[in-house]
Amino acid sequence: MIRDQWYVILRSKEVKRGQPVGVTRMGEKLVLWRDAEDRVVCQADLCPHRGAALSIGRLKDGGIQCPFHGFEYDPSGRCVCVPANGLAAKPPNAMHLLTYPVREAHGYIYIWWGEERADYPPLPWFDELDDTFTTAELQDHWTVDYSRAIENQLDVFHLAFVHDTTIGRGRRTIADGPVTVEDDNGIQIWVYNRADDGASTARRASELPPPDRPPFLKFVFPNLWMNRISDDIRITVFFTPIDEENCILYLRSYQRFIRVPVLRNIVTWFFNPSNRVILNQDKRVVLTQRPKRSGLKIGEKLILADKPIIEYRTMRRELQRRAGQDVE
Ligand code: FES
Ligand SMILES: [Fe+2]
Repeated sequence: MIRDQWYVILRSKEVKRGQPVGVTRMGEKLVLWRDAEDRVVCQADLCPHRGAALSIGRLKDGGIQCPFHGFEYDPSGRCVCVPANGLAAKPPNAMHLLTYPVREAHGYIYIWWGEERADYPPLPWFDELDDTFTTAELQDHWTVDYSRAIENQLDVFHLAFVHDTTIGRGRRTIADGPVTVEDDNGIQIWVYNRADDGASTARRASELPPPDRPPFLKFVFPNLWMNRISDDIRITVFFTPIDEENCILYLRSYQRFIRVPVLRNIVTWFFNPSNRVILNQDKRVVLTQRPKRSGLKIGEKLILADKPIIEYRTMRRELQRRAGQDVE
């Protein structure tokens, strides 16, 4: 994982008022709950006293209470009550609960995974996804590191094989390019797949004319991907790490070709079954990949069309280096 980044870890609706939720994300046990102002709080799901899970405790007076000995913690992680010492006693300062910076936006909960700082960068998002779209969502658990799931969505030449019965019909097996553009925090990809005429070989990106349309795929670090299917249709996927062998895919469909109230929701909902079929085609293969986690030095023999994968791995290494991590 890359430190010093905002990660989507849950959908907003998964953290309800009055009820703490325990999840594993980024290899850590976390508890999430809403404070008196409805703001989401994210803390280590581990009481500093003797290690019980706060997620099976309860919310009390704007804080969270441990189920074991009733210690209470406020949204900043400060211990505000040690009942066994008496309500009049000042709780020890060392009794502090690890607390993560949280933001809630676009129906998702983000946490800052890294060093605390005075100013945080903006949340990763695609600004073109505005209120003109209607959305439908699904999610799926994959038993691989999130990097494998991301790379699958940057891979443009598996379509004719993995998706030969769905979006990959037409046997467009030759992958010209693909053309990619890297920016500060991500990669844009234009796809030029075509049927093999038996006479020509794949052309390099440098041999292709500059793209005259928006990119088909966009990726923003650390884990957000968007597929621009048309002016009026997009698919996004957030790849949320659970640990190094598990992740969750939060997929959302966007459409605006039908804008009539109610009907637009029904139409958008119908994206879900076909997206589920396509995702399962990917999942069937990606779950067999070894190692379960990608990296620059895992012995894979890559080809020209793997350019986006190489760029993803290289940019990830650079971001890890900048965050002071051992690079993968
Ligand atoms: S373990 Fe939480 S109060 Fe004792
Ligand atoms: Fe796919």
